[in-house]
Amino acid sequence: MKKTYHIAVIPGDGIGPEVINEGVKVLKKVAELDGRFEFKFAYFPWGCEYYSKHGKMMDDDGIEQLKNFDAIYLGAVGYPGVPDHISLWDLLLKIRKSFDQYVNLRPITCLSEDVCPLKHVKKEDIDMLIIRENSEGEYAGAGDWLFKDKKEEVVLQTGVFSRKGTERIIRYAFETARKAGKALTSVSKGNALNYSMVFWDQIFAEVGREYPDVETYSYLVDAASMFMVQQPKRFEIVVTSNLFGDILTDLGAALTGGLGLAAGANINPERKYPSMFEPVHGSAPDISGQGKANPLASIWSASQMLDFFGFEEHSKRLIKIIEKLLKETECLTPDMGGNALTGDVGDFFVNILESEL
Ligand code: NAI
Ligand code: MG
Repeated sequence: MKKTYHIAVIPGDGIGPEVINEGVKVLKKVAELDGRFEFKFAYFPWGCEYYSKHGKMMDDDGIEQLKNFDAIYLGAVGYPGVPDHISLWDLLLKIRKSFDQYVNLRPITCLSEDVCPLKHVKKEDIDMLIIRENSEGEYAGAGDWLFKDKKEEVVLQTGVFSRKGTERIIRYAFETARKAGKALTSVSKGNALNYSMVFWDQIFAEVGREYPDVETYSYLVDAASMFMVQQPKRFEIVVTSNLFGDILTDLGAALTGGLGLAAGANINPERKYPSMFEPVHGSAPDISGQGKANPLASIWSASQMLDFFGFEEHSKRLIKIIEKLLKETECLTPDMGGNALTGDVGDFFVNILESEL
C-alpha cells in the first residue's frame, strides 16, 4: 500500500502562492514517478489578506489544525499594510515556536559559477550547510523598554541561551557532521559577548568530547564573515546562533545566486511536531502577480522536505535538475538573467524530471 504524506500548505502573500504552486507540481510528480508514496495537500489561506478580512493572521486554533500534518510547506508572509512584526510573530514565529522547530537548516551550495559574484572561487568551493539555532538566543524577544519617549530612555535586548537550547542545537550539528563525514565549524563571539558566547563555546567543547571523530573549528563571527567570502571552502557544516545564522545565511545566499535560490527548513528533530519547509525570501510585493518570481528556492525547500522524509535520492535529483536549469538552459526567471515565467520554469522542471527517469 502507498504511504500518504499529509502536507499543510500555507501559500501566504505576494509571490508565496506563485512559487508554492510550482513546488507542489514538482512534489506531485516526484511521488507519481516513484509510485511508493503520495502527497495529500491541504491548503490554509492564512496570511496578510486573511488578516485584513479577519483581523488575525491565522485561525485561533490554527496550531491545533496543523499539529497532525507530516510537514508544513510555506510560501512567504508579509505585505504592505500589515506591520511586519505582526505578520512575522503571529504566523511564522508562532508556528516555529509552537512546534519546537529549533533547527533551521540552510544549505549554501553554489550550483553554477555564473550565479556566484566571487571571481576567485570555484563552484565546488561553496558547499556548506548552516545550522542555525531557531528557538532562542538573540531572537528570544526578551528585554525591556524603560522610560519610553523620555530623555532617559533605555532599551534592553537580552539574548537567551539555555543549556538545553544550546546543547541540543550543537548536538544536532555534531550528529549531522558525523553522518556526513564532514568537519563542523562553530561560529560565535566569545571575546565580546562575555556571557552568552563564552557559554556557547563551552558547550561546543563539552559536546565535542562525545564526538572525537568529528573535526571541529571555531571562528568569531566577524572573521567567519570574511572567510566566507575569501575562502568559503573552509566551511562544511556550520553551527551558530539565531542572529549570526540569520546574517550569515543571507551572505551565503548572496554568494550562491540570491534569494531566488535560497532554501530553508525549520526542523523539529524529534518529529513530535511537523517541520516547516519554506524559501528564505519574502513575499516580494515589487514583483508579485507578474509571473516573475523564481520558483527554484521553493523547489529546493521541497527537496529538503523529501530528504526529511528519507527520500535522499529524490532530494538530490531535484538539486541536480536545478543545477542543470542554471547551467544548460535559458528557462530562467529575470533574477537569473532569463525571461521565463514562474509557471514555465515549474513546467520545464517537471518535464526534465519525467524525461530523465
Ligand atoms: P523579499 O525577499 O520579499 O524581497 C527582496 C528582493 O528580492 C525584492 O526585490 C524581490 O523582488 C526579490 N526576490 C525575492 N524573492 C524572489 C524570487 N523568488 N524571485 C525573484 N526575486 C525575488 O524581502 P522584502 O522586500 O524585504 O520583504 C517583503 C515582505 O516579505 C515583507 O513584508 C517582509 O516582512 C516579508 N518577508 C517574509 C519572509 C518569510 O515569509 N519567511 C522572509 C522575508 C521577508
Ligand atoms: Mg533573515
